[in-house]
Amino acid sequence: MHDPVLVVHGGAWAIPDDMVEAHLKGVRSAMAAGWRALERGGTALDAVEEAVVIMEDDETFDAGRGSFLNRDGKVQLDALIMDGSTLRTGGVGCVEHLRNPVRAARKILSESPHVYFVADGAEKFASEHGIPLCENGDLIIPREIERLREFQSRLTSESQEDARDLFAPTISHDTVGAVALDSKGNIAAATSTGGTLNKAPGRLGDSSLIGCGCYADNKSAAASTTGWGEPIMKLVLAKWAADRVLAGNLPEWAAAEAINYLESRLNGHGGMILLDARGHYGIAHNTPRMAWAVKTANREHVAIEHHT
Ligand code: GLY
Repeated sequence: MHDPVLVVHGGAWAIPDDMVEAHLKGVRSAMAAGWRALERGGTALDAVEEAVVIMEDDETFDAGRGSFLNRDGKVQLDALIMDGSTLRTGGVGCVEHLRNPVRAARKILSESPHVYFVADGAEKFASEHGIPLCENGDLIIPREIERLREFQSRLTSESQEDARDLFAPTISHDTVGAVALDSKGNIAAATSTGGTLNKAPGRLGDSSLIGCGCYADNKSAAASTTGWGEPIMKLVLAKWAADRVLAGNLPEWAAAEAINYLESRLNGHGGMILLDARGHYGIAHNTPRMAWAVKTANREHVAIEHHT
């Protein structure tokens, strides 16, 4: 028997002071839901799914309802879930009619020979497997309509160079994720996102790509990343960190090194949670804030500042 461990994050960015409480509450609720799954004898996979569903349902985060809007004013969601014991994986990309893309990803993992579905095909698969579809409008909230309007009016009124601001940590990247170790010694990871503000329709970020925004292998580690997706994809950052754990390093070191690498190699920003099958974990980010929570049999911690 292993002592379970659960780590969740609610995105790495310059979370404003007036959103700190909502983020802390959200990651705390996600942690509680994931932990309940583990206490009921659920698997690490169950725990990460339940934790991520809570954050997809919470309008605070850029996942599920309340996500950033794309250039056309639509919500387009990506999610991935991965089982470290079998390497079975399910991913969805560019879905517009699913409240909980991580549930569809889990169905793909468990009920499809395929790994990844996008757009209409992903929604058809979900619907055929008992997951109700919703209107895209059900995922859109007034805060995000205003955020997009404000951003687009700045783009048209100022120089196009301001498009670079899209990737400033003050604006973007509130992706959510979870990693867990269950009592059987298996690890899993899940990541879900609405992607970046004003993204081009059809743009896929790192979150739902294996080894980029999410990865899990009992032999190395489970990882979930958050941040500016393009640099994270180019570095295959979740796998990069897991490989350092496989080489004998602690997740605490590997997560910090991964974020250093992201910054030094591509001037990227973001964060990562990383957990190995012995229960060692790392939490790192180079953004002003990242909401995270960790629970073990004898420790519970929820924070929004740097991990210490
Ligand atoms: N990390 C989320 C995204 O770039 O889509």
